[in-house]
Amino acid sequence: MRKLGERDETTLSLSNNAPIGVFDSGVGGLTVIRALEKAMPNESFIYYGDTAHVPYGPRDPEEIKFFALQIGRYLEKQGCKLLLIACNTSTALAYDMLRQALSIPVVGVIEPAVDKVCGPKGAGSLQEEGNGSAEPPVGVIATQAAVISGAFQKMFTSRQPHRPVYMMACPAFVPLVEAGITEGPQVEAAVKEYLAPLKEKGIRTLIMGCTHYPFLADAFRVFLGAEVDLLDPAIETVRRGREILAGMGLLADNLQPQRRFVSSGDPEQFRKGASLFLDQPIERVEQVVL
Ligand code: DGL
Repeated sequence: MRKLGERDETTLSLSNNAPIGVFDSGVGGLTVIRALEKAMPNESFIYYGDTAHVPYGPRDPEEIKFFALQIGRYLEKQGCKLLLIACNTSTALAYDMLRQALSIPVVGVIEPAVDKVCGPKGAGSLQEEGNGSAEPPVGVIATQAAVISGAFQKMFTSRQPHRPVYMMACPAFVPLVEAGITEGPQVEAAVKEYLAPLKEKGIRTLIMGCTHYPFLADAFRVFLGAEVDLLDPAIETVRRGREILAGMGLLADNLQPQRRFVSSGDPEQFRKGASLFLDQPIERVEQVVL
């Protein structure tokens, strides 16, 4: 039996029209699917929503790693040519392990977001140009497990050690989004509770460091005002995935790409949520318990 994280040495021959594997604890990773469908409409994908275990945020790191490995191996076995970890919590805890364990390239959501903020001037970064001022403060909202992991801070420190970065765990958001609640008094109260301290710090950019959170972006925008940039890591993540596939000559040219949705929990509930959040009818969701 292989140890946790040990690579399966089966040789893979990948075809350019093989699917991209994407996973999250639930509907949050659909923000990545949204970006993927827009940027790479010819790509097939398999989306795995681990709804039997959502939310990941309050869970033990070892458990989160275990789920990530099982799902990563499952998607690799399905013939995926690339794995997009559409979950900050899994990226924070399991990115290195998945890269070691799998034979296909793996992209997480944290590094592309931090690079977008810290990247070189004139290269698409959100960093202010030319005024010689200190790097403006950044807020990062994420799950408890992602905050505790220190993954965002580590990434910022390795790039811009002096930039002020303020983290905030937001445990109420994921259950609200999973229940399809993205506006109204419950959302407004939670947004105020979590974002008020960041607003006070004068943040100029807010990284939505959990893939569920962009579904609440309207409420964030109302509370923070137009002077704070909201960063959805999905766009940068998909861009990175595209670069990797282009480099390997594996971009799809399929005019009828296949989209498969799989959940570990109730498939009907996931089908309804996915149809709502993707704003298109999802006809079928398979249930696969790993
Ligand atoms: N959407 C995930 C993330 O980006 C997981 C949220 C959760 O299940 O707590 O972190």
